[in-house]
Amino acid sequence: MTRIAVVEGDGIGREVIPVAAEALRLLRPDWDQVPVELGLERWRRTGTAVDEKDLDLVSSCDAVLFGAVSSAPHGEYPSVVLRLRRELGLFANIRPVRGGACDLIVVRENSEGLYAGRERIEADRACTERVITRAGTERIARAACRVAAGRRKLTIGHKANVLAADRFFLEIARDVASGEGVPTDDAFIDALCLDVLCRPERYDVILVENMFGDILSDVAAYHAGGLGLLPSANLGERHALFEPVHGSAPDIAGRGIANPVAALRSVVMLLEHLGDLPDATRLDAAIERVLARGFVTPDLGGTASTIAFGTAVVAGL
Ligand code: NAI
Ligand code: MG
Repeated sequence: MTRIAVVEGDGIGREVIPVAAEALRLLRPDWDQVPVELGLERWRRTGTAVDEKDLDLVSSCDAVLFGAVSSAPHGEYPSVVLRLRRELGLFANIRPVRGGACDLIVVRENSEGLYAGRERIEADRACTERVITRAGTERIARAACRVAAGRRKLTIGHKANVLAADRFFLEIARDVASGEGVPTDDAFIDALCLDVLCRPERYDVILVENMFGDILSDVAAYHAGGLGLLPSANLGERHALFEPVHGSAPDIAGRGIANPVAALRSVVMLLEHLGDLPDATRLDAAIERVLARGFVTPDLGGTASTIAFGTAVVAGL
């Protein structure tokens, strides 16, 4: 039986994931949903944010639906998200951004660069190492080519004018793409951030290293209407995790007003990944119909609650 690990996490993760999980349950009552508690609330209750047993349980499932976890207020525990990505080998972060003239997909390298955890803090100096490897670049470039298949083109974002590591990244990524027959262009990441805002229609699939992808996808989120709308897939050779791009949003948590669209669209991506295209399409269309009616949460200027929006989507299914 197909088993989905469901991690609500913290903050609004506990509000949007139940809505997303309900839609999934309605579409796939035959799939087993396995709840897993991770994050800050779990740490407060038990003194551990995530342990080996959780990782084994999550790994044993066919996919993970993930909300968001709050980072430790004073670094009491290392990042749960980074640990999950590392342990599950989730090296590719796929972030589609749709809205207005914008229909692009950011493919973000998810395991290297500045987020690999090679850091030293000394008395008068702090250092974070940014390592980009050939193997890591080749595999993310191959993933980007798979995403770009059947689309227009692949743009490689980088800072090769300044950073040697980016010249390395750019060259390898270009080679992989030309080997796969995928046309590419490239752009400096700073100029690219502005251009994506001004002329989104010029972009299709954008390949970037870890931190550039983190920033670029939030920038592009402007076109979609904000963070509350953006889903993502984190893919590896053997595991797959689907989550909103947003975090636990402590500023609005507990008020029942978080936008559940990012979480619902993460379920669309999960269904697609597991090969259930009909249900993915049904859910996507049901979300669109409610949005088109203008029945939206306060971040989009409406008055709908998280649960009311979810109920409307589920009713449409
Ligand atoms: P955030 O994404 O949680 O919030 C940024 C802003 O967007 C806030 O004003 C928030 O209210 C708004 N927002 C986000 N999602 C929304 C939604 N669904 N509906 C309506 N408004 C929404 O980012 P922030 O504030 O930087 O981080 C908060 C916490 O989340 C931190 O502890 C951070 O480490 C964690 N985080 C966790 C992630 C994960 O688990 N994958 C990803 C990003 C942040
Ligand atoms: Mg981010």
